[in-house]
Amino acid sequence: RRVAILISGRGSNMEVLIKAARAEDFPARIVGVFSNRAAAPGLDFARSEGIPTANLAQSKFETRLDFENALTEILEGWGAEVVCLAGFMRILTPEFTTHWRGKAINIHPSLLPAYKGLDTHARAIADGATEAGCTVHFVTPGLDEGPVIAQAKVPVLPDDTPETLAARVLVEEHKLYPQALRLVAEGTVRL
Ligand code: GRF
Repeated sequence: RRVAILISGRGSNMEVLIKAARAEDFPARIVGVFSNRAAAPGLDFARSEGIPTANLAQSKFETRLDFENALTEILEGWGAEVVCLAGFMRILTPEFTTHWRGKAINIHPSLLPAYKGLDTHARAIADGATEAGCTVHFVTPGLDEGPVIAQAKVPVLPDDTPETLAARVLVEEHKLYPQALRLVAEGTVRL
C-alpha cells in the first residue's frame, strides 16, 4: 500500500511510521509527507529520508474546501492509497473525510471516546483519571469519532503533570501507530 502522512509539527509519529516502513515485510511504503505548516520540524526528517514532501497553508486559500481539494490533488499525485494523520492540527470537512473514507486514519492521545479534541492529558489529570492512553481510529466527519482500530493504555501516576503523562503516552503511540497501520495496509482491519 502507498501511504501518505499528514503532519503539522514535530512529526515523531511520522518518524516511527517511516522507520517501520523501511522493513521489507512491512505492508506499506511512505510515498509522501504533507504539512500545513512549512516550518514543521518533521518535514526535515522526511526530506532526509528522501521522501517527497509538500506544504500548503490553509490561509492561502479562500475556503477550507479549496485547501482540501489542493491537498487531495497532492495526495493523489503521490498515488496515496492510505492517509495517516500524525499530529495534523486542521479540522477536515465531511467532503474530505468522505472522499478518503476507510483510507484515512488518525492517532489521538486519549482512550477514545474519552477526551476528544485538545488538551487531553490536562483534562484526564484534572478529572482524577487513573488510566490514559492513545487510540488509532478511522477518520470520519466527526472530530476524533471514527471507529477504533487499536488502543494502548498507560497508568496516570499521582505526581503526573500533562507533560509527564504525554511523554508516557507518546512511547505507546510510537508502538501503536505502526501496528495499526500494518493492520489497515494489509487489509486485516477494514471500515
Ligand atoms: C501526538 O500526541 C498525537 O497523538 C497528537 O499530536 C501529537 C503529535 O506528535 N495528535 P508528533 O507530531 O507525532 O510528534
